[in-house]
Amino acid sequence: MKRMYSIVIIFGIIFITFYIAYAQKTMGDSYLKKNYCIECHLKLNGKPRSVVLEWENSVHAKNNLECHICHGGNPDVNDAKEAKGKKTNFAGKPKKKDIPEFCGREGCHVQASVQLKKGPHYSSVQKIGSPNCVDCHGDHNVQQSTYHIITDKTCSSCHSVEYSRELVNSIVTIEKNIEDIERSLAYMNEKNVENKEMTLRYSELKSYFHQLVHIFSKQEIDFTKKLVEVEIEYLNKELQSKIASIKRLDIIYIMTSAFSIGVIIVFTVYIALIRQRRAKIQRQFQSR
Ligand code: HEC
Ligand code: HEC
Ligand code: HEC
Ligand code: HEC
Repeated sequence: MKRMYSIVIIFGIIFITFYIAYAQKTMGDSYLKKNYCIECHLKLNGKPRSVVLEWENSVHAKNNLECHICHGGNPDVNDAKEAKGKKTNFAGKPKKKDIPEFCGREGCHVQASVQLKKGPHYSSVQKIGSPNCVDCHGDHNVQQSTYHIITDKTCSSCHSVEYSRELVNSIVTIEKNIEDIERSLAYMNEKNVENKEMTLRYSELKSYFHQLVHIFSKQEIDFTKKLVEVEIEYLNKELQSKIASIKRLDIIYIMTSAFSIGVIIVFTVYIALIRQRRAKIQRQFQSR
């Protein structure tokens, strides 16, 4: 009997331990502790408060990436000095020229940062702090980006309006072509047509285009434009022939269906006629 009790107790303890671990995992740390960077900054006025409101709608907030991911510091203490003490790696507000390193740290956006450094803008960033990551993406209200975040106004503070428009237009054209391909690929997926090779080439093309907006040299733009044109020509040709064959299949399907329905109708009418005739003969036979 005693043994029985101890077994029950041991299992009970094991169960409770696992339950607590599970609850912590599913509810996350935020359930257990407060983030005092956010708590305290929401009580402030002006910029130190508005950055929190902006951050709350960002792609970072949606992925639980809180203040200390970028700024360092200790979010667990409700004391400004202690939260930003030397041991906490607090980074504060970065200088404009340091932002590519700030965003491009290991584990964050290394690739974008390396690309920016390759381009002609980096020397300008080092001299006057612009154009850097936050000029295009914003600082706290960072959203999932598409080419729409760039307009000629993004560039015309430094380049002429015409030159800016020309550059932005060529980017828009490339992106539109890419979107066309994306739509066609989606259509093929819907129709279950094999398109592995094409999807692969498409995603390579797209990642090349992603790089363009971070490197931005004239040479790179022209090269990308050519590459995209060649790829688009290939992909469009493939698509056209595949989509044509889908449509052919669709037509065959419609015609077969129509034919089957036709056969059924004719057959039904035929049976009805035979029955009618049989009834008539039967009646004639009875009346005799
Ligand atoms: C994705 C990285 C990132 C996150 C997350 C982030 N910040 Fe920032 N923060 C920055 C950058 C970059 C700057 C510098 C912006 C600039 O120079 O335009 C900055 C600047 C600031 C400033 C100075 C604003 C000014 O112009 O005086 C404050 C205050 C601040 N952040 C607080 C916070 C707080 C509080 C949070 C959490 C709610 C937070 N930040 C989350 C990147 C971040
Ligand atoms: C108890 C309140 C409090 C807490 C906790 C707190 N802050 Fe602050 N923070 C402030 C105040 C007040 C200012 C404005 C001080 C100033 O302008 O010099 C500020 C300024 C800042 C700035 C911009 C000025 C700078 O030093 O570059 C950043 C960035 C910042 N806080 C980030 C954080 C982060 C990240 C945390 C959490 C790890 C945090 N804060 C926790 C009160 C707090
Ligand atoms: C000239 C404007 C501009 C600058 C400067 C810029 N970006 Fe971007 N970034 C864009 C645009 C536009 C996109 C969307 C590209 C697309 O849809 O193909 C983008 C996309 C991104 C993406 C998502 C793309 C992906 O690979 O998934 C990240 C992350 C990013 N940028 C980070 C950064 C960082 C970090 C910096 C600074 C080192 C930076 N960007 C500087 C314009 C810019
Ligand atoms: C803060 C100022 C600034 C902004 C904003 C800016 N640029 Fe630049 N850009 C420069 C500087 C400086 C150079 C280097 C000029 C040189 O080396 O002769 C440059 C060079 C270039 C070049 C290379 C020119 C070449 O002949 O290779 C291109 C392309 C370019 N920028 C495109 C853009 C686009 C597109 C935007 C907007 C998304 C933009 N720039 C926004 C300052 C800026």
